[in-house]
Amino acid sequence: MTPDLMESMREVRERHEARTQQAGASGGDASFGRLLQAGQPDFTQGVALYLDDITVSFDGFRALNKLSLAINVGELRCIIGPNGAGKTTMMDVITGKTRPDAGRASFGSTIDLLRLRENDIAQIGIGRKFQKPTVYEQLSVFENLELALKADRRARASLFHRLSGEQLDRIGEILQLIHLKGEAQRTAGLLSHGQKQWLEIGMLLMQDPKLLLLDEPVAGMTDEETERTAELFLSLEGQHSLVVVEHDMKFVDQLTEGRKKVTVLHEGSVLAEGRLSEVQANEKVVEVYLGR
Ligand SMILES: Nc1ncnc2c1ncn2[C@@H]1O[C@H](COP(=O)(O)OP(=O)(O)OP(=O)(O)O)[C@@H](O)[C@H]1O
Ligand SMILES: [Mg+2]
Repeated sequence: MTPDLMESMREVRERHEARTQQAGASGGDASFGRLLQAGQPDFTQGVALYLDDITVSFDGFRALNKLSLAINVGELRCIIGPNGAGKTTMMDVITGKTRPDAGRASFGSTIDLLRLRENDIAQIGIGRKFQKPTVYEQLSVFENLELALKADRRARASLFHRLSGEQLDRIGEILQLIHLKGEAQRTAGLLSHGQKQWLEIGMLLMQDPKLLLLDEPVAGMTDEETERTAELFLSLEGQHSLVVVEHDMKFVDQLTEGRKKVTVLHEGSVLAEGRLSEVQANEKVVEVYLGR
């Protein structure tokens, strides 16, 4: 760890402690107070996410090695690369699950992600979908979406009240978007694997994240489900920034529509970037990944 990083970490800790005490004295929510202090993300520069020289080591092994990456506001970016390339670790860094040894990460042009905790990062507008679906199996599809809404601090005020008309409309919209309108009252545990994945994406969307991170979202889906998922993501593009990690090249092809940029990760850094057809023709990429 560099001395200036240690210094800034100490600063963050001290500021956090001061604020926690303040909030405690006034009976407020310490965590929310910290977020307000951190300010709202600024997207006016067109940047949704910026990673700069991020390094993560596990017992000396570099899972990320000076990784730099920028995602624009509203962009849909696919990230590919061999097993162990560091794709999931990159998402762990963005969401605050793993702290890098060095580097910088910002959300918009102002929010320093490395200074926020996992919960705060979720609240500030970064949603993450893990590979395995995690829905409340015993609850209905509708109830799952309702719960996701209530997990949002902005909706907390209405926690003990009935859903407002606006909230009901929002749930209706999301049900439509994730192709589960007809399954609203169905117990989530009875859905197919693909439908569970959609429900979880819907739960993320209830919180209207600015940036969505999706780790192998179509693994285990049928071809038809995969195609519908691509349509869903394409419909989200523009309103949200999406970072999609996938091994399924047909799906990546559908998402990138022959023109969008794809990033290839290898050994913790960017090996190549460009259109899918370009990176597929890149010798280094073929050697480490696609040629296998
Ligand atoms: N907590 C950890 N402790 C030790 N090593 C880890 C840890 N997390 C990840 N690694 C290692 O870091 C490397 C990158 O792993 P990561 O899961 O990010 O790869 P990935 O690109 O997501 O691969 P895949 O396509 O298989 O999901 C791997 O070699 C992995 O074994
Ligand atoms: Mg992974």
